[in-house]
Amino acid sequence: MKTIRLSIIGFGAVGQGVARVLRNKRDYLVHLGINLLVVAVTDSHGACIDPDGLDLRAVLQRKKESGTVATSNASSLDVIKNTDHDLVIEATPTDIETGEPGLTHIIESFKHGRHVVTSNKGPLALQYKQLYNEAKKHGVIFRFEATVGGAMPILNLAHDALAGNRIISIEGILNGTCNYILSRMTEESLSYKHVLGEAQDLGIAESDPTYDVEGIDTACKLVILANAIFEMDVMYGDVEVTGITKITSEALSLANVENNVIRLIGEVQDGNKRIMRVAPRLIPKQHPLAVGGTLNVALLKTDTAGPICISGKGAGSMETASAILSDIIVICHKNT
Ligand code: HSE
Repeated sequence: MKTIRLSIIGFGAVGQGVARVLRNKRDYLVHLGINLLVVAVTDSHGACIDPDGLDLRAVLQRKKESGTVATSNASSLDVIKNTDHDLVIEATPTDIETGEPGLTHIIESFKHGRHVVTSNKGPLALQYKQLYNEAKKHGVIFRFEATVGGAMPILNLAHDALAGNRIISIEGILNGTCNYILSRMTEESLSYKHVLGEAQDLGIAESDPTYDVEGIDTACKLVILANAIFEMDVMYGDVEVTGITKITSEALSLANVENNVIRLIGEVQDGNKRIMRVAPRLIPKQHPLAVGGTLNVALLKTDTAGPICISGKGAGSMETASAILSDIIVICHKNT
């Protein structure tokens, strides 16, 4: 059995979810022939490092009790550069303006010959092509299922399960916070401010919820889909974006009376009529896109399989960790 050494860079909700999943799945992973050793975990205060493998239960406990994993003041970049390991899990928060610190973490990981799995949307929405080329240049694997749709395996679906199909278009709900707000405002007649607060309490909203409600988060995910599935070379600025902030309770009620819902839909289509758009749309209640709560959904039109629809939890610590775990397993299989 081959041992794969990995680091977890960033130990917020996602990083902690990864640590929990790796603990829960340890025996299953061994059954698959994968022995994972987490040799370093970092957060914004510092790092803990053990070349023989950290006790993740103790790391989670320390984070809970003292607010940090740090037993040394080594930075994330120090760990990426100087700790001997094969795979970096980059789970720092998204910054859509600079992509940092994720962008530098990922590029440095490649330069040091380390594979990368990330949940961080910023670097991909800003520098997809550069990251793709850097990974290729250094002969390492770069995977990012967790960046779009949380637990909903849209990238794997398009690349693996639908291999051989041409994907004609994708439309869907890619932001759980907006979906939660729109569903709750309609079903419970609650105010926008109140339900936004609830979404923040659930831990699904971005630290700056403007990213969610202005459609920016959905646009970033659309850019990742456009580049990764349609092989476009686009950036955030190429998307036409309208958020949900101008949708009134009256508009939602009117839609409801007419057997419709209003949903924030991201849409990407290649070919003669290229579309890259995020906007609220009226959707009939019976339509597969009319999911409620924090769910995400995507409808893929393909040339051979026809329409395929998937739905799942688009955010959350364990849900995002599920997507990261699937990427880790693919990398381990390719390296054993
Ligand atoms: N804020 C995002 C959402 C988190 O609500 O979907 C997952 O990317």
